[in-house]
Amino acid sequence: LSSAAADKPLAGKRVLITSGPTHEPIDPVRYIANRSSGKQGHAIAAAAAAAGAEVILVSGPVHVPDPARISPIHVTTAKQMLEAVQKALPVDVAIFAAAVADWGIADAQPQKIKKNKSDAPSFTLTENPDILATVAKLKSGRPRLVVGFAAETEHVLEHAKTKLKTKGCDWIVANDVSPQTGIMGGDRNTVHLVTAGGVESWPPQSKDDVARTLMARVAQVLNGSQQ
Ligand code: CTP
Ligand code: CA
Repeated sequence: LSSAAADKPLAGKRVLITSGPTHEPIDPVRYIANRSSGKQGHAIAAAAAAAGAEVILVSGPVHVPDPARISPIHVTTAKQMLEAVQKALPVDVAIFAAAVADWGIADAQPQKIKKNKSDAPSFTLTENPDILATVAKLKSGRPRLVVGFAAETEHVLEHAKTKLKTKGCDWIVANDVSPQTGIMGGDRNTVHLVTAGGVESWPPQSKDDVARTLMARVAQVLNGSQQ
């Protein structure tokens, strides 16, 4: 390897990353959301760019700053995130770090719902598209490497292994987000890389380090030294 290649192992590669939560509107002023901060996904985008990749970062609503030299594609809902992802294809690698809302409101209201009725409102939820599974199961134009995340509060590895199969992706990065870990929204992460070959548990480290380690592994696969 020349020193440039060693420095920029992802030069010439297109890497798509989703990050952050999605917001699903109830009415113009209210929404359903989750606790995703976008820190891990944004850190992966930064690490991919540092490794020389062309990065497409599709981000839900977050408060973290844009990674250096990356202009994220901003979306709000799961449906918008899917559309942005499909527009960004083809890519060499797709990493789905977003915490996509599993359900949207079936009948989001065009006007603010008022509370001057006798009963509290009730809502019908409809399942959102699974963006990761949609891309992982593409018959043509599938990225060479499709990576999902699994944030779990119990049975972390068991759930991650199931997700690897049902979603059809190549890797799952699994982590424990039970409240006592304090991980959701924090700066550190303890993850397990689940592949067809087995489970690799990485020591607790900063989300930036998780991102760098992950991109180094991605580069190994793309450059043919490991599967
Ligand atoms: N994901 C996605 N689109 C969805 C739901 C999830 O792309 N509508 C992706 C996430 O970005 C993540 C992976 O799928 O990479 C796993 O998300 P997770 O919420 O853990 O899995 P679900 O299949 O939604 O299962 P559950 O929430 O019931 O655990
Ligand atoms: Ca989910």
